[in-house]
Amino acid sequence: MANFVGRVVLITGASSGLGEGTALHFAKHGAKLALTGRDRTRLDDVAKRCSNCGIPADDIRTHYGDLTDAAFRTATIENTVAKFGRLDVLVNNAGLFFPGESMGMSETQYDQTMDLNMKVPFLLSQLAVPHLEKTQGNIVNISSLFGAKVTPMAGIYCVSKAAPDMFTQCLALELAPKKVRVNSVNPGTVQTPLFDREGSVLHGKDDEIQKLLEAQANATPLGRLGTPQDIAEAIGYLASDAASYVTGQILLVDGGRHCTLK
Ligand SMILES: NC(=O)c1ccc[n+]([C@@H]2O[C@H](COP(=O)([O-])OP(=O)(O)OC[C@H]3O[C@@H](n4cnc5c(N)ncnc54)[C@H](OP(=O)(O)O)[C@@H]3O)[C@@H](O)[C@H]2O)c1
Repeated sequence: MANFVGRVVLITGASSGLGEGTALHFAKHGAKLALTGRDRTRLDDVAKRCSNCGIPADDIRTHYGDLTDAAFRTATIENTVAKFGRLDVLVNNAGLFFPGESMGMSETQYDQTMDLNMKVPFLLSQLAVPHLEKTQGNIVNISSLFGAKVTPMAGIYCVSKAAPDMFTQCLALELAPKKVRVNSVNPGTVQTPLFDREGSVLHGKDDEIQKLLEAQANATPLGRLGTPQDIAEAIGYLASDAASYVTGQILLVDGGRHCTLK
C-alpha cells in the first residue's frame, strides 16, 4: 500500500466526483492535502470526511475559487507551500464536459472547455514545477478515454483532452532531467455530477443521463461503469514511489472500453 505520510498533495476540483474520491484516497494513505473547489459547502464536507479518515484537520488546506482566475491559481500554490513547506504531487483534476455535437457548441462553451481542461493544467503546472523540483515530486493529469478515442456528441471535449495527453508526454520529457515525473490517468465513464452541470444539453434530463450511462456500462468489457475509487487507485499508484520509473504514461482506466473503440 502506498504511503504518503509527510507528502503534500494538491488536488484540483476536489469538491465533487473524481477529485473528491481522490482526496479521500490520499487521506487514507496519510497525505497532507491542499484541495480546491468553487463550492465551499461541498469542499468543506470533503475536507471533513478526509479528516475522518484519520489525518488531522490541520493537515488539510481548502482553497475556494475559480481556477481560470490567475490570482487564485497563484494564491493556491503559494498558500499551499506557505502552510506545508513543500509540494510533492499536483493532481490536475478539475475539468468540464458540455455533451453535444461540435457544430452546436457556442464560442463560450469552447473557451470554457479549453480553458479549464487544457490551459489551467498548463498554467498550474508552471507555478508548481519549481516546488516539485525541490521534492522530486510529480504531476498526475486527469484526462479521459475520449482524449484518445473518437466519440460522438463530445467533439470539443475530445479535443480538450487530446491536448493534455500530448502535454503530459512533452512535459515528462522536459522535466525528466530534474526527476519530476508527469503522468496521466484517462478514465472511462464514471457516474459523477460531470454529466449534469449547468449549461450542458443534458442538464436536468435525468432519464437521458441514465440511458447514456447504462449504454456506456453495457459497452464496457468489464460490464460496469468505473467508480471514483477505481480512478483514485490509479492516481495513487502513479503519484507514489512505486511508480518511480514511470513518466510520460497515459494510463487508460476504463474497464477495457478502449479495446472496443477505434
Ligand atoms: N466522470 C467521468 O466519466 C469522467 C471520465 C473521464 C474523465 N473525466 C475527467 O475527470 C475530471 C473530474 O471529473 P468529474 O467527473 O469528477 O466531474 P465533476 O463531478 O463535475 O467535478 C468537477 C470538479 O471541477 C471543479 N471545477 C469545475 N469548473 C471549475 C473552475 N472553473 N474552477 C475551479 N474548479 C472547477 C468542480 O468544482 P465545483 O463543483 O466546486 O464547482 C468540481 O470539483 C475532469 O477533468 C473530467 O474531464 C471524468
